[in-house]
Amino acid sequence: MADVRESALIDSSIAVVGAYGLVGREALSILHARGVPAQRVRALGSSRSAGTTIPFGPGSLTIEELRAGSLGGCDVALFCSDAQTAKAHAPAAIREGVRIVDNSSAFRLDDGTPLVVPEINSHLLDEGPMLVANPNCSTIIMLMAVEPLRRVFGVRSVIASTYQAVSGAGRAALEELFNQTRAVLDGHAPEPSAFPVPCAFNVFPHESAVDPSTGLNVEESKVIAESRKILDMPDLEILPTCVRVPVERCHSQSITIELGSPATLGALAEIYGAFPGVAYNGDPTALMTPRDIAGTDLVSISRPRLARDGRRISIWVCGDQLRKGAALNAVQVAERLVRRDVA
Ligand SMILES: NC(=O)c1ccc[n+]([C@@H]2O[C@H](COP(=O)([O-])OP(=O)(O)OC[C@H]3O[C@@H](n4cnc5c(N)ncnc54)[C@H](OP(=O)(O)O)[C@@H]3O)[C@@H](O)[C@H]2O)c1
Repeated sequence: MADVRESALIDSSIAVVGAYGLVGREALSILHARGVPAQRVRALGSSRSAGTTIPFGPGSLTIEELRAGSLGGCDVALFCSDAQTAKAHAPAAIREGVRIVDNSSAFRLDDGTPLVVPEINSHLLDEGPMLVANPNCSTIIMLMAVEPLRRVFGVRSVIASTYQAVSGAGRAALEELFNQTRAVLDGHAPEPSAFPVPCAFNVFPHESAVDPSTGLNVEESKVIAESRKILDMPDLEILPTCVRVPVERCHSQSITIELGSPATLGALAEIYGAFPGVAYNGDPTALMTPRDIAGTDLVSISRPRLARDGRRISIWVCGDQLRKGAALNAVQVAERLVRRDVA
């Protein structure tokens, strides 16, 4: 991955759309940490946040309202907003020569739109696409743990249960967790708004709509379809169970992978050690938690357990869904696109 002190984006003009939201703020924080100066960054949002100032390093940026033509003159726009906003504004920006990395689900499954995790399929950026889709956060975190094993042993199927932080549903959801927690401790009933049921002191299947014909909710369907696209394995068997837990940030996953050929526990340190973007802890007593991993860039893989024939492995994975699951992945994609332009 790019050296954070020499981000290829330093000389680019970058727009962050949805700057007031959780992913947008994280993107700004990452851009600052990678040395991008404030003069090169524009923060945009809806009329609701326009005029508000948000932190950028030691200083701040004032949010501009996103309107038709707002992104003209930018080299790259990181869309950290919803799918509707991306669909409404990205095509026109592309016509003005702005490269887009979109965090929403708007374009992920479109034919011809690369869906990229740089550690896995960065070759899709070689042609210099104007639009790149950032995968769903659970998809990115799961594949960062699966791909190193796939390259060595092959993968036949994946079963994953997720423990997803409430901040995965945005700023309003995170505020709901804080408010409900206070309310419950004060003896009041929690009142759900961002979620269909209380999130404080509770767990529940992911709140997205369920397809009655498959029983899968939208989050689970995204994990399946996006993983197949990224791995270019259209028939890969994937069975996810996506669950929301009352954790502030950082998604965890329990993943069982059926391998193409037998593995040994002893091989894992070298395999994961050679793969960028992950941190492997082979100590069977290690207790990696979302609190440990929140705010960090590496996807943590621990608690490896093998079936007796070595063909199935279970692992415990934690990844900050606001960073590698969203903003960091988008910045990495943008850096590759810009580096390619100047090469
Ligand atoms: N949260 C995660 O962990 C995560 C992970 C992966 C992907 N994503 C995706 O990333 C995107 C952002 O998620 P989030 O969690 O940051 O949500 P969020 O906290 O709710 O923020 C969304 C932002 O979108 C902006 N927005 C809405 N309508 C807009 C418009 N018409 N013009 C300009 N900006 C507009 C809002 O701006 P205003 O505040 O100005 O209204 C808001 O700040 C979503 O597509 C989400 O699915 C999120």
